[in-house]
This record gives sequence, structure tokens and C-alpha cells, in this order.
Amino acid sequence: MSMTAPPAPEAAPLHAYRAALLWFAPDHTDAHGQPAPRYEADGLLVVAWDGAVAGGVWRVRAVGAYRDLRAVYPDVAVTHWPGRLIAPGFIDLHLHCPQTDVVGSPAEGLLPWLERYTYPHETHCADPAYATEVAGVFLDELQRHGVTTALAFASSHPVAADTLLAQAHQRGLRLMAGKVLQDRHSPDGVRDATEQSLTDTETLIQRWHGVGRLGYAITPRFAPSCSDAQLRGAAELAARYPDVWVQTHVAENLDEVRWVRELYPNDRSYLSVYQRFGLLRPRAVYAHGIHLDEDDRALLRDSGSAVAVCPSSNFFLGSGCFDFASADAAGCAYGLASDIGAGTSFSPFHTMLAAYAAGRSGSVAAGYAKLGVSLTPSRLWWLHTAGAAQALGLGGVVGSLCVGSEADFVVLNPQVTPLLARRSAQAQNLEELLFALIVLGDDRAVERTVLASGNFAA
Ligand code: GUN
Ligand code: ZN
Repeated sequence: MSMTAPPAPEAAPLHAYRAALLWFAPDHTDAHGQPAPRYEADGLLVVAWDGAVAGGVWRVRAVGAYRDLRAVYPDVAVTHWPGRLIAPGFIDLHLHCPQTDVVGSPAEGLLPWLERYTYPHETHCADPAYATEVAGVFLDELQRHGVTTALAFASSHPVAADTLLAQAHQRGLRLMAGKVLQDRHSPDGVRDATEQSLTDTETLIQRWHGVGRLGYAITPRFAPSCSDAQLRGAAELAARYPDVWVQTHVAENLDEVRWVRELYPNDRSYLSVYQRFGLLRPRAVYAHGIHLDEDDRALLRDSGSAVAVCPSSNFFLGSGCFDFASADAAGCAYGLASDIGAGTSFSPFHTMLAAYAAGRSGSVAAGYAKLGVSLTPSRLWWLHTAGAAQALGLGGVVGSLCVGSEADFVVLNPQVTPLLARRSAQAQNLEELLFALIVLGDDRAVERTVLASGNFAA
């Protein structure tokens, strides 16, 4: 995979890319009212440099069939990628930078996994040299896999959030990230101090939120690891800075849910603990959300919060399966996430395939009594691009390649491996092509990751 820079902005305020094209246009839906992709076998993506925003960004000026658009833009320089598919850059709604080195650490479940591998490993991020190195690897992996926007946890050490955000800024990646808050039930080396953790969070918000393409995410690890004072402080900051993101975990694992019930016997549910503190709101993203009930789903919907669905992580830790059908019935927003390092791959293809399998498995909350759903390939793709953008409050900004949106995209090669080439050559329609990519694709299929910022890693 190579990282490609569009031409220098001052030399060419317009540029175009020709290949097969997949994008999501607002209000383009299928027969069931679901967002549906638009597709052109011979497409043209015309991008224009917008220098009015800090740092500048390439935006989609026009998208459609080559035969129609070439006449409208006769003079624009065209980069032609025959046999390739241009699609929106992927959006990862939840993952942990310092857990890049934890991937593939097995345990009986979430809590032993945290104790045995994750907390001890995250202590290393107190060392600025390690924090800097692992952030570089993490961002390389995102880009290699075609992820152009992500909502990420750093560790509890402010330096780890600082270096992660600084490096993402240098690369021009759209990253929302935050220092983890965890002032109790956490070992030495990752446990922070309540007052200082909140001061550090506010300093980081002021330093990074809205800088270039960055956002800050207030990051209480999960209710068991945060004192009441820390959750209250996090919510106060969220109220003071309404356009920052909030990210945490909820209802991932049955032992965790039991623990929360013991810690908060007077709250109706795990999610309602966060509600009582004032942490449910638009731009709040809750990872996992497996063991939720109808009241919880209504709370998520009514508050404008979203769920980051983490299927490969849920399979790896044996947490259960997200109940897609109930979330849809409740009208609750969600999108897909790798949850590195409980998740098993940075690859959006891997995550989409795991989401498909989770959907087929049915709902653990219903004791698997409920019939599984078949998520279509275009639905899976939407949940990792335009749908994930919507869950972040960034609908129409990233994830769609609709006119006016930021031009982060991937160039996919459906011929990259022998079997993928055979399968994709036999695809009769877009759904079959997308399914072949989801099932057989990996980082080898991501030939280029093109960032709207025009800044690229070496
Ligand atoms: N709950 C609290 N911390 C974590 C974490 O690091 N990973 C996962 N999967 N769940 C968590
Ligand atoms: Zn997580």
C-alpha cells in the first residue's frame, strides 16, 4: 500500500480521480429506507482545495460517471486507476492506541484480560519514548488499513494523548482521542489522581480540540474505574465543551455488568449510571453495548448517544454479540469499531466480516433465542463509513464522498489476491463485489489511502 499525495494545492486547486467509485449520497436509500451506496463502474471524483479552513482540506466538488463529468471539467488533471475501486476512507469508532502491542493476548474474559495484560502494558506509556513510538505504529496501521477517521483511547498518561494527537496532526488524519480517566480499581502505573486527571483533560482539550482535523474525546475508562468525583468532573467538562467527544465502555461483559450493579445498587442499569452523571449526549460514543435492555436503548436514542459495535473484540473475549435488530427497532445510532487490542485486526474488512457473523449469531441478551439478522454488504460498509460518521456527529463531513464532504478515500484493488480476483471477477452486482471484499479482503487490498489534508506519512 502506498500513501499518495494529491498535487500541491497552490499548483492545482482542482484535481480528479478516475476509477470505479462507491459513495454515499444523502437521502439515497434502498427499498427498505436504508442508506444505499451509489456506484459508478467508470467514475470520476473531482476534488477542490478549500484553503478557508485551518490547514486546508480537499473537498469533493463533484462525483459521478466519468462520461458525464469529464465534459463539465474538461481541463482538470485526471489520475486514472484502471481496475481499482475508490471508496470513502473507513471510520473506526473505538480503539486503543497503547493496545497495539496487546493484540492477541487471550484471557477468560474482559476483567482478567484487563488485569493480566492490558493494565500492565499501558503502564509503559508513562515513558514518552515508548508512547511516541507506539503512537507512530498505531497511526501507520490505521493508514495502511484505509482508516482515515478514528475515535481512540490513549492511556491515562497525558504524554501519551499528547504525542498521539500531535502525530495525527502532522499526518493530517482525522483523529479524536483522549487521555484515559481511571482513578480507582486500577493498579499503580495506570491509576490517575482525580483532580489532576481533570486538570490534565482540560489542558489537553484546550491544546488540541479543533486543531486542524483533530478533536478531543473526554475518556472515562468505564464506570468501575472512575470515582463519582471523576465521573462528575468528566461530565462538567463535557457540559463546558459541548462539541468535544465523550467515549467510554458500557455493558460489554456479564461479570463487568455484575460489578457495576454492586458498585451502583441504586441505579437502574449500567448505562443509567452514566446518565445520572450527565454523560449521555450527542458525540458520546459507548463501546460494546451488548447487555443493554429496551430502556437503555431508548436512553441512547433520546440522548443522541451512539454505540461503537466491536464484533472481533466481542468474539475474542467471549463477551457476546451486539443485538443489531433491537438497536434498529429502537432507532439507536451505532457504527463499527475494531477495539484494538481486544479486537483482532485493524482491518475494516475483518471487522465487517465479524459484524456479519455477530449478526448471524443472534442476540446474547435473548439467550441466542432470537433469530440472527443478515447484514447486507452495503449496510456493513455504511456502518464503517457514512453511518459511523453520523454516529460521531460528522455526517456529510467524512465517510461519504458526497459533494462538499472532505475527500478522504481508499483505492482498493479487488484483484490483489488470486481468490479475491476470481471472486470479484464473478460478481454480478455491487453487493456481490462488496461481499467478496469483506470476506476475502485485507490490508493488501488497500492500495492507497488518500487523506483530504494532503499530508502523508513517508
Ligand atoms: N473496559 C474497560 N477498559 C477496557 C479496555 O481497554 N478494553 C475493553 N474491551 N473493554 C474495556
Ligand atoms: Zn475498548
